[in-house]
Amino acid sequence: MKFFADTADVEAIRDLNDLGFLDGVTTNPSLIKKSGRDILEVTKEICDMVEGPVSAEVTATEAEQMIAEGRKLAKIADNIAVKVPLTLDGLKACKVLTGEGNMVNVTLCFSPNQALLAAKAGATFISPFIGRLDDISIDGMDLIAEIRQIYDNYGYETQILAASIRTVNHVKDCAMVGADVITAPPDVIKSLANHPLTDKGLAAFLADIEAGGIKIL
Ligand code: E4P
Repeated sequence: MKFFADTADVEAIRDLNDLGFLDGVTTNPSLIKKSGRDILEVTKEICDMVEGPVSAEVTATEAEQMIAEGRKLAKIADNIAVKVPLTLDGLKACKVLTGEGNMVNVTLCFSPNQALLAAKAGATFISPFIGRLDDISIDGMDLIAEIRQIYDNYGYETQILAASIRTVNHVKDCAMVGADVITAPPDVIKSLANHPLTDKGLAAFLADIEAGGIKIL
């Protein structure tokens, strides 16, 4: 399973990248606003830092304008994935932009039928939003499982990029149902390494290292 960082914070991305398991980055207008940076400038900086796909979202709502924005975003770097919303205009833009050889991430997916349309439009990634469904008492993980089954039934190559991840259990559940990618805030990704028994066990080993005078170097 691939791990993408869901942030436009370059320091957080650098930190995760240094750990060696970052496969890409997703941004959205809210994350760009939070960064306080110019979208083209910060996206270029992220693309230079990360080898994998970096999603950058269009601002337009009409297909022709989305296509024009997508072409401009795609010129930033070879690893740009143009992000378009799951509307009929977004799907039209997706078809054109993928036809021109660009990666496209179709975002704001909340139903299996929306995901089916994105696959038919040739999307590289479909982004179902788990947390926002959970927020309204609908199990977001059911959506991931249903999309997995539909894509496998027909051999669609669109990758399921589970988004709006809020907890480490979301990550585990996505892995269990077969999401191709998760995108999560950097803190959630780093928290995957935590376990109180690891901390407790290490403390005991360190005490014995000290008491036993154990040295390697
Ligand atoms: C995905 O690409 C989105 O940027 C993101 O996961 C949305 O998450 P949120 O629902 O926590 O804002």
